[in-house]
Order: sequence, then C-alpha cells, then structure tokens
Amino acid sequence: MRSVREIVRRARDLGIGIPAFNVAHLPMTEPIIRAVRDQDSFALVEVSRIDWVKFGAQSPEEVMVEYRIHEDPRHVRIHLDHVPAVDEDQNVVNYRVIIEEAIALGYDSVMIDASRLTLNDNIRVSREIAEIASRSGVPVEAELGAVLGHENGVLPPYEELFTSGRGFTRVDEAVRFVKESSCDWLSVAIGNIHGAVGDATKDQKKVEARLALDHLATLAESTGIPLVLHGGSGIRQADMLASLRRGICKVNVGTEIRQAYEQALRAGGSIADAREATYARTSSLIKNWFQLSGIRQRLTS
Ligand code: G3H
Ligand code: ZN
Repeated sequence: MRSVREIVRRARDLGIGIPAFNVAHLPMTEPIIRAVRDQDSFALVEVSRIDWVKFGAQSPEEVMVEYRIHEDPRHVRIHLDHVPAVDEDQNVVNYRVIIEEAIALGYDSVMIDASRLTLNDNIRVSREIAEIASRSGVPVEAELGAVLGHENGVLPPYEELFTSGRGFTRVDEAVRFVKESSCDWLSVAIGNIHGAVGDATKDQKKVEARLALDHLATLAESTGIPLVLHGGSGIRQADMLASLRRGICKVNVGTEIRQAYEQALRAGGSIADAREATYARTSSLIKNWFQLSGIRQRLTS
C-alpha cells in the first residue's frame, strides 16, 4: 500500500488535492471516515493542538484510539495538525514532546508550526522536527507566512489583508526555508485565513477568502515540494479548485465540519445526530466542493 508521502506526491502529479478534516470533537472521527469511504475518496483525518486544548478532541492518544476503531487505510490516514512552537495565545509549547509522542503512537505524518517565530527560528525548529521524524520515515509539514484567524482580537477587514498581501509567504524566504529546514510539505499563506476559535467568535460564519493564484504558482515552482492550504472552510470554490492545479496538494478543513457538529447539538440533537450532521457536511464537501468522489484508486494504487 502506498505511504502518505507517496499519495501526496501522486496528488501533486495528478493536479488534485487531499482533503484533511479536523477532529474537533472525538465522535467526529467515525463519520469523517465513513463519509470518505462512502464517496470512494481519500482524505486525512487530522487533529491539531487547538482541537484538544480548546475543543473536544481530548488528546492525540484519544483520537488515535478512536481512529484505530474505524480506520480504513485504503481511504484515510492520520495526520497530526498544527503543533505550534508558540500558540495563538502566545504560550510557549513543548512541541517536541507532543510530536515525538504522536510519532510513537503511529501518526502517519505530522506538522510543526513555528510560523510565529522569526524566519531563522522557524527554520531551526522545523529542521529539528524534520530530523526527528525522518528517523521514523514520517513526513513533516511546516508553515511559513501568517495564516491569521486563530489569534484572539479583531482581524483587519479581509479585503485589506488580501490586497496588501500582509503575512503572505514570500518566495525568497520559502526557497531558503525548504532548503534549510528539509520539511516535506509547506503550508503557505496566500489569502487563506483560519476560522476563529475564541469563545466569542467560534460560531461565526467565515468570510469567503480568495487566493493569490499567481503567487501560489510561483511558490510551487520555486520550492518544488507539495504545498498545503490551511483555513479551507469557506474559501471561494473556484479559487480552491484552481489552487489544486497550482501546487496545493492538501487542504485543511476544520471550522465547517466542527460547526455542523456543534450546531446539531445546540439544536437539541444527540451525539448520534451530531455525528450524522458531520457525515452529511463532510460528504457534501468531498462530493460538491472538492469534487473528489471516486478518486481513491487513482490516488492510492
Ligand atoms: O489546520 C486546520 C485548518 O487550517 C482548518 O481551517 O477551520 O478555517 O477550515 P478552517
Ligand atoms: Zn491550519
């Protein structure tokens, strides 16, 4: 069976992307996997530190236990999403311990997010993790640029952010970063933003983000490695689809399926109802938004 590293490379060759769905609450694991399988598609199940610190994923161990019950490697693999060196509230995080434990638990790929550090420190930290992960053959995703939205406080108006290009990944820095950090995949900032996670804002509908597609194409060509699009919820569909033909190989989606789950509960539903809401939204995203139903065989064999 192909490794996740090979599958992501194949996605790049085919000009398609791999959805990566965040487990914000443990019971979301099963319906995500069921949706991917029923669509005969392929996706990553992922959990970030925010999912277990601010929402109901509990821990990477708990998610792995749940994943093992329902796993189907023909359709899904498990990825450790954002482990920040400094988190959205400016706390310093012991990223190394979390990532080493996840690798020992059997996570197929991991992300180190040192994007809040200086370029030199981001390179140093990402390289440290790339060296650790390479001993187990686990691919490492790193981030360069500012994919805003997780931090507390009010974001500047989206149009202002997009037209100014504030926080966008710079081509010269990306080339140096990839060479010196030895990361396998790179998360880039090209107009994408994260859904809010603060208590007062986490239920809000996300702004429809656009993507700087020419800039993305230059980043992909200059770095030569698979690129990752974070903040997938609510991106303009035409831009997201175009990004898959310009070097994006993995698209993270969190807010949209988390809100589907939480809204079902708030409406008085049971956990079973919330699972079905997650299933319905994940299925619809794969089928209608990503248009990736039926691609499993092309990607994995
Ligand atoms: O790492 C997680 C993703 O970037 C999710 O972003 O919640 O805006 O879909 P989103
Ligand atoms: Zn993200």
